[in-house]
Amino acid sequence: MEPDLAGGIAVLDFGGQYAHLICRRVRGLGVYAALLPHNTPLEELEARRVAGVILSGGPSSVYAPGAPAGDPGIFGGELPVLGICYGYQLMVKAHGGEVTRGERREYGRTRVRIADNRGLFEGVEGGSLEAWMSHSDSATKIPQAMEVLASSDGSPYAAVKLSGHRQYGVQFHPEVSHTENGEAILANFVLKVCGAERRWSMQGFLRRAVEELSRLDGRVLCAVSGGVDSSVAAVLLSKAVGDRLRCVFIDTGLLRAGEKEKVEATLGRDLGLSVAFVDASERFMGALKGVADPEEKRRVTGKVFADVFEEFAGAEGPFEHLAQGTLYPDVIESGRSSGPAAVIKTHHNVGGLPSGLSMHVVEPLRELYKDEVRELGGLLGLPESTLKRHPFPGPGLAVRVLGEVTPEKLAVCRGASRIVEEVLEEAGMYSQAWQAFAYVGDDRVTGVLGDERRYGLQVVVKVVESVDGMTADWSRLDPATMEKISSRITNEVPGAVAVAYNLSSKPPATIEPQ
Ligand code: XMP
Repeated sequence: MEPDLAGGIAVLDFGGQYAHLICRRVRGLGVYAALLPHNTPLEELEARRVAGVILSGGPSSVYAPGAPAGDPGIFGGELPVLGICYGYQLMVKAHGGEVTRGERREYGRTRVRIADNRGLFEGVEGGSLEAWMSHSDSATKIPQAMEVLASSDGSPYAAVKLSGHRQYGVQFHPEVSHTENGEAILANFVLKVCGAERRWSMQGFLRRAVEELSRLDGRVLCAVSGGVDSSVAAVLLSKAVGDRLRCVFIDTGLLRAGEKEKVEATLGRDLGLSVAFVDASERFMGALKGVADPEEKRRVTGKVFADVFEEFAGAEGPFEHLAQGTLYPDVIESGRSSGPAAVIKTHHNVGGLPSGLSMHVVEPLRELYKDEVRELGGLLGLPESTLKRHPFPGPGLAVRVLGEVTPEKLAVCRGASRIVEEVLEEAGMYSQAWQAFAYVGDDRVTGVLGDERRYGLQVVVKVVESVDGMTADWSRLDPATMEKISSRITNEVPGAVAVAYNLSSKPPATIEPQ
């Protein structure tokens, strides 16, 4: 069910952190883009009739042994090419120029002066723009056949064009929102230079997906968690296969507050899906008893989830298909289509489904990014409150309760997290945050309530901003919001005596505390 790349853009993945972002930006222009391995042969790109190729950035040095080079034929063909950062340096090297390891990294916002408004910079006014740079190596000599389109203090060749060809290179990152006119620069390349077709829209995707999914024979089972991905996958499938879809919500006892009620109300009552609710919380608590190691907690929750799921499928089956809300970055990052950055995470979307089940796996969202899934969910009638929900890990609160999962810590973690979400929501800041929650360990501190000393748990609040969860920055909440979170937690959550705020970004920390 992969969309046709003909007339679209291939983004070759050289391992840069913004490779996905390039793809998303191109799709935002209404043009389908796919992230392909860096060494995709020119022959394949031509056979797929792509309108153009964008080479992503990457962490290597073009002269380093084993550095990903891609098919050199790309630079000798007729295909339009835009090299970004590392991709640009490869282009310079391929045409006989020189790239040198810089003494200093050029990092952050940089003023780029435009020397030539044709091509990439068409319609960009003012003669200069602020661009996002992140590189140590630079092109120090460009081949004669290249014309300089723009320069900066640190990069005399900040943007170039190969004369007589539709090949462009930029040292900066037009895909990053900090680059002024970045979208216009990408649009100039994609729409004007490549003449790519604007055929990508969520309405179109929805129509095609329903048409294809409706050809599935037999019954479909879909685990729903209340999260965006599984909810959208379930509603999409129900549109296609009607009452041959059965959804199951497994209450692990490790979920956020009010999750079951939300699923009942939105998927069940409002959208009319058939959802079975299985309360397995005691089983999860039993299996987690005495388990303190984070990885072991992940393994135990995954195993119990798989067991409960398998029992349900056995009792209510047979089901021919198993639907999962896997997204495009999960597909790429689990190495099923790999760039040099290959396997980054092996997170499961649904807390670890059994591998022994003889069901055909259906992943209707596997071509989509999260923001596209949200848009699709809107078209399918899912409420805003579901669509903007923060991501939540499969093992749930088991990785937000440090040490052994006890009913006391679980209740504190859940109650405090609900307050963090409510306060941000009231302040209109919920959607700005990537995730916002509280976690709790075994640290007990002394407090006073009236004249009484209270010895209770210390809760840590974590609010982070992120584009894709791969990197994250802690949110600079204003003092009034922090004050409200803190006082509500200590007043309203029994057993919570003190509140701390986590000031760590990712890297070096991860988003989840465990
Ligand atoms: P970390 O903690 O690795 O998380 O910075 C990145 C994103 O992934 C989510 N996450 C998980 N999701 N199973 C999941 O389904 C897991 O075991 C898991 N661990 C982390 C996390 O919430 C964040 O959005």
